[in-house]
Amino acid sequence: PRQSIIIDTDPGQDDALAILLAFAHGEALDILGITAVCGNISVQATAANALKVLALAGREDVPVFLGAASPLVGELVTAERLHGEAITEGWDLPVSTTAPRPEFAADWIIETVLSKPPASVTICALGPLTNIALAFAKRPDIASRLKRLVLMGGASQGGNMNAVAEFNVFVDPHAAARVFSAPVSKTVVSLDVTSKLLMTEYVLDRLTTVTSKITEQLKKLLTLYEGYTRTGRPRSLHDPAVIAWLLAPEIFSGKEVNVEIDTTPGLTYGQTIVDMNAVTGRATNAFWLTVADRDAFYELLESALARL
Ligand code: BDR
Ligand code: CA
Repeated sequence: PRQSIIIDTDPGQDDALAILLAFAHGEALDILGITAVCGNISVQATAANALKVLALAGREDVPVFLGAASPLVGELVTAERLHGEAITEGWDLPVSTTAPRPEFAADWIIETVLSKPPASVTICALGPLTNIALAFAKRPDIASRLKRLVLMGGASQGGNMNAVAEFNVFVDPHAAARVFSAPVSKTVVSLDVTSKLLMTEYVLDRLTTVTSKITEQLKKLLTLYEGYTRTGRPRSLHDPAVIAWLLAPEIFSGKEVNVEIDTTPGLTYGQTIVDMNAVTGRATNAFWLTVADRDAFYELLESALARL
């Protein structure tokens, strides 16, 4: 049966590829809507980029909603220093003729989850967890009504914002703390696994020569990675792993763990503290992925892109 999903996202090249991967597997995934959140760039820009991705996929029937414009506490830290110009410019893709819907993302999430049978909706979170935390704060009962939350965020083995914190959690650790303590089954795609999904030259060559209707645009989306890969510093592909886990969980393995979030300003701000050896006695609250099969992951992505 098809799984109903909501994609909460801050596109982001890797977010865009995740959305395209989901669309390519329409037989398995039914995208109810896309909620934009601030993160990589401002929420207006992430929503505009989400609309461009829908136009690219020929799926402008899917609604896009504007979400949080700033984290729960403090100012937004964007990923410009990570992603550079390519992301701030909103890419060289055709501008969409459609607009975000008027409803606020967190309200639409609540309404949608309440209108569907219990345990039927999965949220895929590809950015900071602000929208999800706001939805849970307003209607705590929707957390246990979800089927699952699959999120990209966190790290137990080294961060990408400070020594220990990953970007999505670092941008809004207060939201992450609320979400990790909420009664919803979670699968976590952290840097632990995405660091194993390096976009090597071999992978890039294959992805950029995929023959499909979107080949040219795909090349543009991958330009940013191209720069790193061709100069011998291949980067990880993060967000598509969330969708890949839904489609082919056998590509990954992981374990049930307790995760707590450090929200205290300082050297470890935004750290996901993962009780990997179950020594704290705290209840487990997440399924933490630890291993990914890179070849199988990229085969899934490549064949999906060819289907578009
Ligand atoms: C995460 O940060 C963002 O820049 C990416 O889109 C991904 O969601 C990786 O740390
Ligand atoms: Ca993202």
